[in-house]
Amino acid sequence: MTIFPIEKIRADFPILKEKIRNKPLVYLDNAATCQKPQVVIDSISHLYTHEYANVHRGVHTLSIKSTDRYEGAREKVKDFINANSTKEIIFVRGATEAINLIASTYAKENIKHGDEILITAMEHHSNIVPWQMFCEQTGAVLKVAPINLQGELIYTEFEKLISDKTKLVSVVHMSNALGTINPVKKIIAAAKARNIPVLLDGAQAIPHMTVDVQELDCDFYAFSGHKLYAPSGIGVLYGKQALLDAMPPYQGGGDMIRKVTFEETEYNALPYKFEAGTPSIADVVGLGAAIDYLTEIGMDNIAAYEAELLEYATEKASKIEGLRIIGEAKDKGAILSFVLDKIHPHDIGTMLDSLGIAVRAGHHCAMPVMDFFEVPATARASFAMYNTKAEIDVLMDGIEQLIEVFG
Ligand code: ALA
Repeated sequence: MTIFPIEKIRADFPILKEKIRNKPLVYLDNAATCQKPQVVIDSISHLYTHEYANVHRGVHTLSIKSTDRYEGAREKVKDFINANSTKEIIFVRGATEAINLIASTYAKENIKHGDEILITAMEHHSNIVPWQMFCEQTGAVLKVAPINLQGELIYTEFEKLISDKTKLVSVVHMSNALGTINPVKKIIAAAKARNIPVLLDGAQAIPHMTVDVQELDCDFYAFSGHKLYAPSGIGVLYGKQALLDAMPPYQGGGDMIRKVTFEETEYNALPYKFEAGTPSIADVVGLGAAIDYLTEIGMDNIAAYEAELLEYATEKASKIEGLRIIGEAKDKGAILSFVLDKIHPHDIGTMLDSLGIAVRAGHHCAMPVMDFFEVPATARASFAMYNTKAEIDVLMDGIEQLIEVFG
């Protein structure tokens, strides 16, 4: 059995030493965004201090160094998700932009009036709204596969919704509101049997498990850096090369061109065809540093440690009278969404903050999930690899205290 180096990991994250309202910070809002290790912070500082210039544009030393760092990070992302080639790694602002890119390019070319896009009832707004906008513009139809009261996809219903009209399946890998991990391999196999491409929204899954896009055989995979211990403002769209090659560019401008005249523009090769304008260079470098850091710890080790945290938290939460867990899927990542009798989730969030505990209270950008469970919002504790059972104890004590005060 591997011993998880929790003390060392915690020491790597300087913000964890902060005091909030005179209490040690207990940061349990990792699904919204997670904290950054010193190596990521240092990588950005090092770039700006010693190596920064624009990428792909200069013959001077700094530009070459900066380009090497930037393209080196692309190589790291490729290895991290086991893509076939760096041509399949497109840097974007985050998962949301990645999905919007597909809606604006792949979908625009391949999905027409009357065609269908299939999602699930547990999607984040970023995997609902771009499709609604697309459907409004084109007359395509958005189909939604239902979930059950445990917060699991009802797979048989999902399968029934796949038809000759389905032109894209776009599904969340792990739900940010519920923690549910979808049976994506089964979903992809069902779609493949009918030659339907699959986009996975991996924003929540990527920090919690090993993601191998070749093994999954998904066509597109979207994720954000800021949930992966990397800076905000950077994310990745993975796409199979043949699909990306056939897609028109997303935005026009610098870097995505090979030749421009006033009559026409010849576009650059992959991946640059989709990276118009000066990119978020330092954030890409930070993403590379985060990937190195995570690779050293091992994603499987992280998954095993977080599974223990979730089990511990679930067991403790289940014993609290008046606490209802929202999202009880069998296959679940390290997220504990809950409501308390007679106490609004915003009050839960505010009260816990007074104890130094950061959780998110709200609809988690998944309003249809809240509607399904007939709650206005939930309180959500979302765990990362630097959290501990002792912190879960602090959370549970805090919940007991606020039940006593408000209940
Ligand atoms: N999508 C992020 C969350 O789940 C912001 O909180």
